[in-house]
Amino acid sequence: MAKDGAAYICQSCGAVHAKWSGQCSACNAWNTLVEEVQSRPPGALAPARGAKARGLAFETLQSEHAQPPRMLTGVAEFDRVCGGGFAPGSAILLSGDPGVGKSTLLLQVCASAAARGARCAYISGEEAVEQVRGRAARMGLAQSPVKLAAETSLRDILDGLKREPFDLVVIDSIQTLWSDMHEAGPGSVTQVRAAAGELVRLAKRRGVTVILVGHVTKDGSIAGPRVIEHMVDAVFSFEGERGYPFRILRAAKNRFGAADEIGVFEMSDAGLREVVNPSALFLNDGGQRSAGAAVFAGVEGSRPVLVEFQALVAPSAYGTPRRAVVGWDSGRLAMVLAVLEARCGLGFGARDVYLNVAGGLRISEPAADLAAAAALASSALDTPLPQDCVVFGEISLSGDVRPVGRMEGRMKEAAKLGFGRALGPAAAMDNAPIPVTGVRRLAEAVERIGAAAWP
Ligand SMILES: Nc1ncnc2c1ncn2[C@@H]1O[C@H](COP(=O)(O)OP(=O)(O)OP(=O)(O)O)[C@@H](O)[C@H]1O
Ligand SMILES: [Mg+2]
Ligand SMILES: [Zn+2]
Repeated sequence: MAKDGAAYICQSCGAVHAKWSGQCSACNAWNTLVEEVQSRPPGALAPARGAKARGLAFETLQSEHAQPPRMLTGVAEFDRVCGGGFAPGSAILLSGDPGVGKSTLLLQVCASAAARGARCAYISGEEAVEQVRGRAARMGLAQSPVKLAAETSLRDILDGLKREPFDLVVIDSIQTLWSDMHEAGPGSVTQVRAAAGELVRLAKRRGVTVILVGHVTKDGSIAGPRVIEHMVDAVFSFEGERGYPFRILRAAKNRFGAADEIGVFEMSDAGLREVVNPSALFLNDGGQRSAGAAVFAGVEGSRPVLVEFQALVAPSAYGTPRRAVVGWDSGRLAMVLAVLEARCGLGFGARDVYLNVAGGLRISEPAADLAAAAALASSALDTPLPQDCVVFGEISLSGDVRPVGRMEGRMKEAAKLGFGRALGPAAAMDNAPIPVTGVRRLAEAVERIGAAAWP
């Protein structure tokens, strides 16, 4: 056992270990264990002698008070991800890679909410007031009545927030906060947990919505956002592929709304622009699709989104052929390839396979199976799909094409964007808004693609 009061805490997942080791046995991250002194309040473990329990005061599920109304920020993509605006008193964690635009997004959200009459505070622990002002000026928000502070002391922040009523408080970032109640250094699991705990309590008690920015670090030099995920009401991640201007706000957890909702933004000099019609963004411009391309009619959260799958199947120069995939799951690709080989007679053994989801979006729906398979078959057979065709459907190991959720919604979105037909599960043919080539087996779809036989 380590010396009294000291423990090794994984800075990625928060697991406590008695001994140091190179790899965390809980989350398998490397070099994330850091010795931290655990300062327990005296008597926290053993109840004081003679202390009396008071029992529980039970309540009914019914409340006399109406639910407080949601607060809309006016940034529609953000409000959607929240589940229709903030629930007052909620605590939200926003995490994302360095430089993805977290501060930009939250400054914009604050300014927009403030313009609608909300009392907003933006507290930065990483940037000086002048830096935040500079960003505001660049975004044309210099006149916004958002209250700004640069502070890292948890005690001062809590005190300041008690003196003045706010509707929305942004803390950028939780890892910079520091409480003198704990010995561990800023950014350590102990500090991050303590600061998050205090701020969540403040949110609940005073009905303030608190947004905490959490940095994602791979090396574990500071505590990752995962250590406080369970403490907050909602966890959003802000994502973007390098080299693409798109940013996607994704709800990973939400106690007040759907957890798979996304908001789409485009980064520009003047801040983030909301993207109202993401399908147009993720489709390759020009509408000319060559062999190996298939447009997937997907659903992200509550919204249908069309996105192009691009496949390249080429003879391999090496003994072990390459399998590379961007924007989709590599395990899923392996499965679809295996089904194409075993059930449809396509051989990929000596060929490299590349699969890419255009536009930098990450797709995780099983409904994308058929689109990926169609793109792969189209490239392997060197035959393009019809230009105006969208594809969706789940594939089973037996080679069946299974129906998926919201098929009509997917096709309606496709029709809106000028697509005139769909390739999908046979069940999609009922009440379809556009003509559907329905297939029960993947082999039927591959046959059609190879023969370019479309009605
Ligand atoms: N002067 C500028 N002109 C145009 N774009 C800029 C400018 N300054 C910053 N940006 C854009 O804003 C992005 C950084 O945004 P922001 O500071 O909000 O990110 P962040 O996620 O808060 O980063 P950090 O992890 O450092 O806190 C940059 O990647 C860049 O795309
Ligand atoms: Mg920032
Ligand atoms: Zn861990």
